[in-house]
Amino acid sequence: MTFSHPADSNLSTRLGQALTPEQGALLRLVTDEASRRQLPLYIVGGFVRDLLLGCPATDFDLVVEGEAIPFAHSLAGNYGGKVTIHSRFGTATWNLDGGTLNRLGIPTVEHTSVLTLDFVSSRSETYKHPAALPTVKHGKLTDDLQRRDFTINTLALRLDGEVFGELRDDLGGLDDLQKGLVRVLHPLSFIDDPTRLFRVVRYADRQGFQITPETLALIPEALPGIDLLSAERVRHELDLILEEEKAASMLKRLAELGILAAVHPALKWKHSTQTRFVKGLAAAQGFERPPSRRMLGWSLWLMDVPHPDLENIEKRLHFEAGLRELLLAASALFAGVNSLAGKKPSRCVAVLDQIPLKAVQAVSLALPASPRRQLLHDYLETWRHVKPRTTGHDLKKRGLTPGPAYKSILRHLCEAWLDGEVMTVDEEMALLEKLTKKV
Ligand code: CTP
Repeated sequence: MTFSHPADSNLSTRLGQALTPEQGALLRLVTDEASRRQLPLYIVGGFVRDLLLGCPATDFDLVVEGEAIPFAHSLAGNYGGKVTIHSRFGTATWNLDGGTLNRLGIPTVEHTSVLTLDFVSSRSETYKHPAALPTVKHGKLTDDLQRRDFTINTLALRLDGEVFGELRDDLGGLDDLQKGLVRVLHPLSFIDDPTRLFRVVRYADRQGFQITPETLALIPEALPGIDLLSAERVRHELDLILEEEKAASMLKRLAELGILAAVHPALKWKHSTQTRFVKGLAAAQGFERPPSRRMLGWSLWLMDVPHPDLENIEKRLHFEAGLRELLLAASALFAGVNSLAGKKPSRCVAVLDQIPLKAVQAVSLALPASPRRQLLHDYLETWRHVKPRTTGHDLKKRGLTPGPAYKSILRHLCEAWLDGEVMTVDEEMALLEKLTKKV
């Protein structure tokens, strides 16, 4: 993304180009309603930042300088759709289903079943204690901008009335965006909300921006605040980072700044982690159905962490069950894959069939080219799909009484194929003869 300075402070043309036809049509309804009610309405935050960087995001936050909930209700009253509200924060979501969108003549792309818009009442926030969820009070737009994390996230675009598209830059966001600087708004920003320690790195590395020296200097004293964050909030920030293209450099930076260690001392980012992570993610493109970037990212990162440390990290971050199982399996396989070397394919399959497939995929992506990696590759591509021609139905036709012998015969046939003991259907039939005689 590259910053391009607006020729004037009205960004309506850029905004028009950035929106999808459905977003544009929907936004027109909203701006008309705000104009009728003389209610100042703004897009604020990431969308405006990214619009100026030439890469607008797909969703945007709408801030009403006034009451967002009655505003959303009046939209639903005039145009249809449903409103869900969060009274504690003064926020409302306007949900429009396909039928309503059709009726309003809003073009929907295929598969759009529902469109939503989020409205926030401009507010000020105070923190009762560090890392607490904020106490919220209605305020002017400028209060709302001041509660935010970094100057580059405080830019706002006015949407109502004559001033549609007018850029509002109360806190120097445009200048910092142009210079490529990430800067907190006040010295207690990280203390109030330690999730910003993760966000500062994410924004800086995403764009190749610099964290200003003053902002950087605030980080060490804010690190203990990470202990006060819930597992879910920390994990969410790390998840967001893992979804980023430059996740590896962000995680490296988090380690250098002591942020990972403040989450848990066993959470490290070593040179070998970097190599494994980058190569593994790139190689995953070759898989027909690769694990999600987030799942794969976590497992490539933590694959070499010893089991007890992994358990301790899990206690801090509370991974969901599926990810927890994947991480434990991947780390056990990564540590134990050598023991499969030289074993017959059927033995390897017996072991690997017990492991979640995503874990085998992750370890195969993590290993450098070697017989161990080839073995996992053979399992993923070929061995796990091998089946004998004979089925249970065939055994029944041969007059065998259904029971455990079926499983044993079919497994024996499968193993014979895997280990090259039978290579043709005739050879399988000959083996089947022998096995059924024994029963
Ligand atoms: N915000 C904040 N402090 C936080 C989280 C969010 O001040 N801890 C503000 C920022 O102004 C941010 C806006 O809320 O721009 C929306 O938050 P979010 O959707 O997380 O960020 P985006 O800026 O949209 O960034 P991204 O591109 O990463 O989604």
